[in-house]
Amino acid sequence: MTANKTLLLLPGDGIGPEVMTQARRVLDWVQKSGRATFQIFEDHVGGAAIDAYGVPVTDAIVQKAKEVDAVLFGSVGGPKWDNVPFEIRPEAALLRLRSELGVFANLRPAKVFDALVESSSLKAELVRGLDIMIVRECIGGIYFGEPRGIETLPDGTKRGVNTEVYTTHEIQRVGRVAFDLAAKRQGRVCSVEKANVMESGLLWRQVMTALRDAEYPDVALSHMYADNCAMQLAKNPRQFDVIVTGNLFGDILSDLAAMLTGSLGLLPSATLGAKDATGRRPGFYEPIHGSAPDIAGKGVANPMAQILSLALLLRYSFDMEEDAAAIEAAVERVLAKAGRTPDIKVEGRPVISTTEMGDALLAELSAT
Ligand code: IPM
Ligand code: MG
Repeated sequence: MTANKTLLLLPGDGIGPEVMTQARRVLDWVQKSGRATFQIFEDHVGGAAIDAYGVPVTDAIVQKAKEVDAVLFGSVGGPKWDNVPFEIRPEAALLRLRSELGVFANLRPAKVFDALVESSSLKAELVRGLDIMIVRECIGGIYFGEPRGIETLPDGTKRGVNTEVYTTHEIQRVGRVAFDLAAKRQGRVCSVEKANVMESGLLWRQVMTALRDAEYPDVALSHMYADNCAMQLAKNPRQFDVIVTGNLFGDILSDLAAMLTGSLGLLPSATLGAKDATGRRPGFYEPIHGSAPDIAGKGVANPMAQILSLALLLRYSFDMEEDAAAIEAAVERVLAKAGRTPDIKVEGRPVISTTEMGDALLAELSAT
């Protein structure tokens, strides 16, 4: 049996708790198989933590997140907390956790499932078989750069400042993740920045080029400006294998890539840090969709992105490739034959609830 693993679940707000409940059922399935045992901790985060503790994430939760082997995160935010001070808005929890865990590489796969090719906003022939991996730098860039803030000018008007900043080290470490992934895929990395406008982008391009030349001679590297990349994603997305980019461009381009797949409700993400001296690597896993307050509490959210995030956790943090692949395959089979949650509904298939989607998946898993 695999050694006991520790896990922190942070369901958060909106649909987070509903989809996390289904992911928990899948965790139980893995445990029942006898291949691993999990010690599971759970706590509030985001708006739920503001309500419970007055802050979106407590020091104790951050500490626990650092101690456990992996964190499975739901989603945060909602209109209820629209008016809390900026410093303690629900999203601040996510940014603090990413930053304190040091998870710098955010892996956002955009894969089109055959069963969903008609749900894409693009024509089926453009997206059939699409399988892109976006690697987004996640704890640097303009999200965290200094100086930042809003200051009052002598004439009483204000000035808002954020700073885009990247160092050689930050670019190299995320670049290595992208090159390593590409080496196991189609061997192509497209590095994205605005080197035509920003010095940080120019450095990004130079560092990526030098890294490829020095360490990854077998991986093909191309460069693209971020605006062109957005256009190319909408025009001919299958030209990409791995895209590597900074925090802000990655945020935007990964939403675009996600939309190409037909449902945000299907896309997981993994955010990884560097291995420590003992070989442990912090891992933070979350669906790409947000808290979807408009459908929260109605039992209609698609739980698959949360469940696929758990699959990534098993793969990257626990080295349980077989279980990860079994879950992914079961999700595909459910999509191909079972009912659908409203976000991916199609004619001729019953519309089912979050729990029923979980039931269908568990039935598939138990049959394997
Ligand atoms: C994401 C989200 C977050 C981000 C928000 C909620 C802070 O959009 O994970 O893509 O901008 O990183
Ligand atoms: Mg985003």
